[in-house]
Amino acid sequence: MGKCPECDAWDSLEETFAANDIHRPKVLSAVDQAQAVDVDLPALPVSQIPDMQVPRMATGLAEFDRVIGGGVVPGAAVLLGGDPGIGKSTLLLQVGQKLAERDMKVLYVSSEESASQTRLRADRLGASSGQLYIYAQTNVDKIGQQIQKLRPSLCIVDSVQLIYQDANSSAPGSVSQLKDCCTNLVYLAKASGTAVCLVGHVTKRGMLAGPKLIEHIVDTVLYFEGDSYHDHRIVRCIKNRFGSTLEVGLFRMTATGLEVVDDAASLLIQAGAGSPPGSVLTACLQGSRVLPVEIQALTADSALGAARRKAAGCDANRLAMMIAVLEKHADFRLLDKDVFVNAVGGMKVTDPAVDAAMALAIAGSHMRRGLAAGTVVTGEIGLLGEFRPVASLAQRIHEVCRLGYTRLITGPVHSAADRQAVESVKGRLAVRICKNIDSALAELT
Ligand code: TYD
Ligand code: MG
Repeated sequence: MGKCPECDAWDSLEETFAANDIHRPKVLSAVDQAQAVDVDLPALPVSQIPDMQVPRMATGLAEFDRVIGGGVVPGAAVLLGGDPGIGKSTLLLQVGQKLAERDMKVLYVSSEESASQTRLRADRLGASSGQLYIYAQTNVDKIGQQIQKLRPSLCIVDSVQLIYQDANSSAPGSVSQLKDCCTNLVYLAKASGTAVCLVGHVTKRGMLAGPKLIEHIVDTVLYFEGDSYHDHRIVRCIKNRFGSTLEVGLFRMTATGLEVVDDAASLLIQAGAGSPPGSVLTACLQGSRVLPVEIQALTADSALGAARRKAAGCDANRLAMMIAVLEKHADFRLLDKDVFVNAVGGMKVTDPAVDAAMALAIAGSHMRRGLAAGTVVTGEIGLLGEFRPVASLAQRIHEVCRLGYTRLITGPVHSAADRQAVESVKGRLAVRICKNIDSALAELT
């Protein structure tokens, strides 16, 4: 402007930059300051910091609440990643509907689908609450304005890959756009108290697309796993500032959306699994719960010189270790055998307590021997062929017993709580304690 609109003087205006505004995302300045976080508090002793008990917004979708730590925290930023077509949009639309049913306003921003496409999906899921708003938009500033207008409890942005900021000239989905848009939305969440849930894409290698930075700036990172060939889906928590990670939520994809699975055993285990040669049941720890998983192994004559070793759902390095342990400490000859190991049902098992099950499944397939019906195996195996104590044995014992299995093969019991658990299930669950792989192999008949 050449002329001051106040005093009408010409050439009296000077250009300056307010230091604070240069780096601060645009949306924040537009947010009503009354609701903004008080950033001007002086440093205080920890005991004098006001203790704010924020109630979590529980969705009522039990498995989703479980992974997220009891419900969505107001003002939290959640990132959900997963393969295309796995069900991210479905899950979040259902979460939105559940919260809307509980009289919380939800804004679902669709950047990949038109509003009417989203409506079609919503109809299929029975999502018709008056508190659930659909907004097809890709401009982050407009999304910010809509959040200010509606003041929803939760804003879902599906997905961040297609949204852009005017001020940034690079293409949507590029690193700098993603960085800017996500930072903007996270600031907005912190300032307005609206929780935001961002959907991210996953690259070919299974990592969340975009810079690691996005994972750093959000409070919670969830991964949606499973494959399109099975109907069950697993939501895994990778990072959670407001709760435990390691939690998983189990869902089943049906014609009317995702259904919560309360009985993991029925989903993951088929009747009769665990006793035929090459099949072993294990109890692995996933966050705060014990999941039964069937480990299958197959050894076959290798046609070519180089034997193949393939692991699906288990760690390939641990498979190689178990084969070496069997060769060295149990006199197996697997040199000219292909060895395949699979955690049935698409589970990804990271618990080292799966070792013993893997070893027994391989040995069983090789010798054509199986375990007694109703047997579960849990134990980590060391390089000397010894069984090592597993974490949370007591919890595993109780769960295995609850599911009706009758025999548990495991390693040494050290803690008092574990010993007590062994005592408490006497008569219902026989706990067989093995020192090394040799004594466990004697169980194969
Ligand atoms: P979608 O949520 O679109 O996946 P994403 O957002 O992760 O790409 O879900 C895609 C698949 O889910 C699709 O192939 C069809 C299936 N589906 C059902 O089986 N039942 C349903 O009720 C819905 C909505 C989808
Ligand atoms: Mg989608």
